[in-house]
Parts: sequence; structure tokens; C-alpha cells
Amino acid sequence: MLIFSGNSNRILSKKIATEIGLSLGELEISTFPDNENRVRVVEDVVDQHVVLVQSTGISPNLYYMELFFMLDSLRRNGASEITLVIPYLGYQRQDHIFRDGEGVSLEVIIKLLEHLGIDRIISFDLHSIKIPELFHVPISHLSALPVFAKKINGMIKDKVLMINDLVLVSPDMGGIRRVELLSEMLGGKVPYISIEKDRDLDSGEIESVKINGDVKKTAIIVDDVISTGKTLISAANLLVKNGAENIYVMATHGIFAGEASISLQSSIIKKIIVSDTLEIPQNRKFDKLEVVSVASLIANELK
Ligand code: R5P
Repeated sequence: MLIFSGNSNRILSKKIATEIGLSLGELEISTFPDNENRVRVVEDVVDQHVVLVQSTGISPNLYYMELFFMLDSLRRNGASEITLVIPYLGYQRQDHIFRDGEGVSLEVIIKLLEHLGIDRIISFDLHSIKIPELFHVPISHLSALPVFAKKINGMIKDKVLMINDLVLVSPDMGGIRRVELLSEMLGGKVPYISIEKDRDLDSGEIESVKINGDVKKTAIIVDDVISTGKTLISAANLLVKNGAENIYVMATHGIFAGEASISLQSSIIKKIIVSDTLEIPQNRKFDKLEVVSVASLIANELK
């Protein structure tokens, strides 16, 4: 097995390679003055099973183009099997038509990836459980929840969190299964509640309108992705209005679009824990942010 990385998340790629006892294969990715990319596989990949790691995040178009060219180079140069590790699958939230006249961006991405010859795909916490059904190649749908469960248990052990004060919160109705699963992973000892959210599809404005269930002193909001941070801030404000005193967040994918890092740092949220499915550039990091790694989950899946 050979493992290669695109430019989106080399830190995670290196961690995965180390965990499976390999080093990253040599792949040149250069950019012409007009911003077009050129990709060249330097290593011999003939008849090899190749693992390619690339996420998308804040620059989906750049990293998808890079990915398409990498897949093409690997196939043209004789790779016999390609496993794509795409920890965050960009465009997944556009998985159906929300308003008349829209296209389905995720379907375009899947068609391109399959056309370029991926044999298998590994991804994390997809926005909807229906997404795996859209692929025609085998997909391993992994989750960062076990890493978050471990983190919560550690915080309970260190007395940072008091188990009797805790409640898990889904910030929208679509995420209830996520908090239910996390609660199960915690031995059913931490209850969960959900929030009903309204999103204006034209303006992007978000309002958390109603809490279903009992709020406790310490709320851990669990989400799949943080983009603008508006969902979390709105949910946190509603929870505090309803009696919560400490708000934590655990989310798999930290995109931190636009001013998200600034808004989250100045919000009432105490700590935001995300996984490393996306690499967070220095200018989007902030004091309340902590990153936990999913590298060993990917390495185990590859082994
Ligand atoms: C929505 O359904 C997702 O689960 C996230 O809650 C949402 O995409 C987060 O977006 P933002 O950070 O922009 O509110």
C-alpha cells in the first residue's frame, strides 16, 4: 500500500501514514502563474493499492481540482486500486434541491470522483445518513463521536465536567441521532435534548427557536460542521436564556468561514473542540479552540 496526500491536510495525512508505518509518497503539485494546477506522481505506482488523502474545507474548489488531477495521475500511471480518504466531503450539504432551479452539487462531485476511478471512499460524519447511498463504490462512513466520547470521559475524570450537570444538545432536528449515539457511547449516563432551528435560505440567517427537553447547568452542543458558527452561537444563547451556565461545543468539521473564529471567540461558548478532518490555518485558530485527532480511526480502517 502507498499513501499520498494533497495539500489540504498534510498534517493529518502524515499522522495516518505514521500510524500505519508508512511515509507519504512523492507527488508534485505545482501552480502555474495563472493559478492552474499541475500534478505529477513521482513514485512508481504500477499495480499498487494507493491511498489518497484530501479534504476540502474553506477552499473546496481549489482542493477538489487538485484531487481530480491527483486521481487522474495515479490512474494514468498504473495504480491498480485507489482508496480515497476524504475526511470532509465538500458540497455534502447540497445533497438535494432546496429551492426550485437549484442543481445538486454533491451529485456532480460523486460523478466526477467515480468517473476518475476511485474504488473505495472513507469519510467522516456526513451531513445526512442518505449520502452513502448516493455512491456506487463502497464507502466507510466513520465518525468522530468515539473521540469526543473519550474526551468527555477524560474531562469528567479530571473534574472539568460534572456528570450530573451534563446534557448533550443537538442544535437542530437533523442532528438528534448524533447526540443519541454519543449518549449511548457514554453509557447512557448523559441525557440529550434538541433545538428547533429556522434558517432563512436566502439571507443565511439562523434562529434557534425552541428547546425540546430539559436544559442542565452544562450543555455540550454536538454538531457535524461549523461553518459561519451562527448555528452554535444562536443555540448557545438560547440555552443560556433557559438556564445553562457552561456551554461546550464538539463538532467534527471546523471550517470557520468568514468571521466565524472571531464570533466564536467572543461568544458565551466556553470551549470549542473540533477534529482534525480539516486543517485549520493559523489565521483561523482562536484561544477557545481545541483540536482532537481522528488519525487512528482512519489508520484502523485502512489496516
Ligand atoms: C446544519 O444542518 C449543520 O448540521 C450545521 O449545523 C450547519 O451547517 C452549521 O453551519 P453554520 O456554522 O454556518 O451555522
